[in-house]
Amino acid sequence: MTETENARMMPEMVTDDLCLRKCSQKDIEEFYRLAVNPNVTKFVQWDNHKSIEETISYVTSLEEEFSKGDRMTWAICSRAADVFMGLVSLSQINEKNFSAEAGFWLGEEHWNNGYATQALKAVIDYGLYGNLNLHRIYARHFVEHLACGRVLQKAGMIFDGVERGSVYSKGRFFDAARYAITK
Ligand SMILES: CC(C)(COP(=O)(O)OP(=O)(O)OC[C@H]1O[C@@H](n2cnc3c(N)ncnc32)[C@H](O)[C@@H]1OP(=O)(O)O)[C@@H](O)C(=O)NCCC(=O)NCCS
Repeated sequence: MTETENARMMPEMVTDDLCLRKCSQKDIEEFYRLAVNPNVTKFVQWDNHKSIEETISYVTSLEEEFSKGDRMTWAICSRAADVFMGLVSLSQINEKNFSAEAGFWLGEEHWNNGYATQALKAVIDYGLYGNLNLHRIYARHFVEHLACGRVLQKAGMIFDGVERGSVYSKGRFFDAARYAITK
């Protein structure tokens, strides 16, 4: 896939405060600075980054996953200055069932400004009503991670239930709350 084709299929989106765009090598330094913080990864399945090489390899893998059609990941950037602040994604893209899973994270200094909600709403809008033409977008969060649950609610997702002990992360099992939105 050429760079031009990628850009066409990976739309840039803007919200009141954000620009959502393709994550690229120019984001590596800021990405690593934010992802090294263990507070960011306390309630997610990935571990905080331990070296900049890990970040480089991850950003490269995003491109590969996008090329395969498995996952679309946008860098969440400040609209005014285009500074990298985190990621929002649609993964598990299932063409048969017209469904996908949403996920997101932001660097700790960017929390509680409404950014995750803005990013998720934009991606839901694209997923349901844009090229992907999905019918259902779902998301899961560790039940104790209340801030994530609030983001899902504020983005219009409906609570579907709790999957007990469904996620093994950092040496223990977590209950996952599942939310979804349908067209
Ligand atoms: C979860 C996360 C994405 C939220 O991003 P954010 O930009 O701060 O989210 P928003 O500002 O849009 O909304 C946060 C909401 O959670 C609420 N909140 C924050 N901390 C909370 C807590 N400890 N308990 C309950 N609610 C909390 C905020 O008050 C806000 O709700 P409100 O608008 O009703 O007041 C961010 O904290 C993060 O990136 N965490 C690390 C990675 C992660 O956990 N990703 C999500 C995996 S499901």
